[in-house]
Amino acid sequence: MSTGNPQFNQKPNLHEASTLSEDKTLNEGESDEEIFKNYLEDLKLKPENLDKKILDVGSASAQFGKWVNEHYGGSEVFSLDPKHESDKIIKRVKGGAEAIPFKDETFDLVISNGAIPNVLQTPWEESLEVIKERIRNSLFEMMRVTKPGGEIRLGRVSREMDPSDHPVFIPDSILNTILEELKKTYAVEIEEIHTPPDIYNYDEPGGEPQKLIGKAYLIIIHKPFNPNTKSGS
Ligand SMILES: C[S@@+](CC[C@H](N)C(=O)[O-])C[C@H]1O[C@@H](n2cnc3c(N)ncnc32)[C@H](O)[C@@H]1O
Repeated sequence: MSTGNPQFNQKPNLHEASTLSEDKTLNEGESDEEIFKNYLEDLKLKPENLDKKILDVGSASAQFGKWVNEHYGGSEVFSLDPKHESDKIIKRVKGGAEAIPFKDETFDLVISNGAIPNVLQTPWEESLEVIKERIRNSLFEMMRVTKPGGEIRLGRVSREMDPSDHPVFIPDSILNTILEELKKTYAVEIEEIHTPPDIYNYDEPGGEPQKLIGKAYLIIIHKPFNPNTKSGS
């Protein structure tokens, strides 16, 4: 039964001009190398930044991790996705961001591209409180498995422009509250970089864009070397 926020009670009728659709899950037709290049662009990573222990959350079939593990000697990428079975050879683990099956402070870099937190706002019928809890748990889990001095990069995080019209984007009120909680708990520094193209709705597929409905950002969370430092203490 719906718990009642009308914003989330129906899937909207719109066509996205972005790469945020969950249809991208399977990345059909895109080679591992193309996916790798998308990740570098969306997460603003350089190949030389990859000599690290990395967790890719919402990795789909693990194409990014496979490519990096095959081509970059100093790197080790683990891939996490609830819709794909674990596979030791390609370092893929079945699981979700809400309960990450790794020990504390395991990774230098935790990334999520077109996945967390965007995918956590579905299913549509759930209340904002449920969605908020899911996003909060996931970001705190990602923080837990990040080493002190490490980084979390969330690629193309969608933010709403007009919540009454378009319930596809994470309300700023929710995301900002959780990011503030992270800042207070871990004294993290957070950078946000706008990453066009912006998202418009269309009257019809292939038609003229009608209205700006969402913008996407790269969010970089820097975990300090002393993560237990509470702000104000
Ligand atoms: C749009 S795809 C992005 C795939 C890949 N990161 C890319 O950029 O090509 C979103 C992925 O998030 C995964 N996902 C959905 N719910 C998740 C959750 N709770 N935790 C982690 N991943 C999740 C989906 O299974 C899907 O593979």
